Amino acid sequence: MTARIIDGKQVAQNIRAELAAEIAHLKERGITPGLGVILLGDDPASQSYVRGKERTCKELGIYSDNHHLPAQTTQEQLLELIGRMNNAPAIDGILVQLPLPGHCDEKKVIEAIDPVKDVDGFHPVTIGRMMVGESTFLPCTPHGIIQLLVRSGVTIQGAHVVVVGRSAIVGKPITNMLLQKKEHANATVTICHTRTKDIAYHTRQADIVIAAAGRPDTITADMIKEGAVVIDVGVNRIEDPSRKKGYRLVGDVDFETVKEKASLITPVPGGVGPMTITMLMYNTVESAKERASE
Ligand code: GUN
Repeated sequence: MTARIIDGKQVAQNIRAELAAEIAHLKERGITPGLGVILLGDDPASQSYVRGKERTCKELGIYSDNHHLPAQTTQEQLLELIGRMNNAPAIDGILVQLPLPGHCDEKKVIEAIDPVKDVDGFHPVTIGRMMVGESTFLPCTPHGIIQLLVRSGVTIQGAHVVVVGRSAIVGKPITNMLLQKKEHANATVTICHTRTKDIAYHTRQADIVIAAAGRPDTITADMIKEGAVVIDVGVNRIEDPSRKKGYRLVGDVDFETVKEKASLITPVPGGVGPMTITMLMYNTVESAKERASE
């Protein structure tokens, strides 16, 4: 079997078109969704992510209040800025780009964001609400994965999903979201990690494999069953002197061999990646809708 490739760019574009219509509707009612964006320092990957977020805001007509600050910015200054954004009526969501420089306590910074503006879905209150099944902001990458599955016609209910990786941003939240007693969930979920004795034993039983380990070739063809759906969350830079930048991006899945056995697969780049920013915009619009209803 050769897999159908899930086009994350196209799915993201479809969702953005839906958001554009919602934003137009909000603007008719005098509400422009607003996102506060904070970046400390000049890490190239973070700068590139933040530029992507700002560009998408512009495309969609979301106001973005951008603060690119020096790496030496103190934690007090950062907390003060977050406090101002918490109180700013034009800001519906606050995004602090991670990782932060070493002198900042990420936990403290995330907890300073008002949960009603926590569009990244990283605040412990947001995570707690999600775990108990309350309506709240869903973390962007896991929510994007679920949208990719649903919009590709994959039935999640009753499926055995094996998640490889237990990060706070992807592995843990997607596991929780998939096992909720809800539409687009109700899956049986197994989570594997670096101390799992035999990852292949588990992944071979999976109807859906979600690879979020952060290591190339974590999933090879012998580790999946024929016809499985494979979602690759990995973004790994590997050296490639033939490229202008000197590197190329690969996921956690050995794409070339796994695509011959899977029924559906996401590429890297162009799979999960474009969904993360899109779901951030989705959360910002949801927050603005909440403001509009007050
Ligand atoms: N750094 C890498 N990914 C993310 C993300 O989704 N949100 C934030 N705030 N920082 C990140």
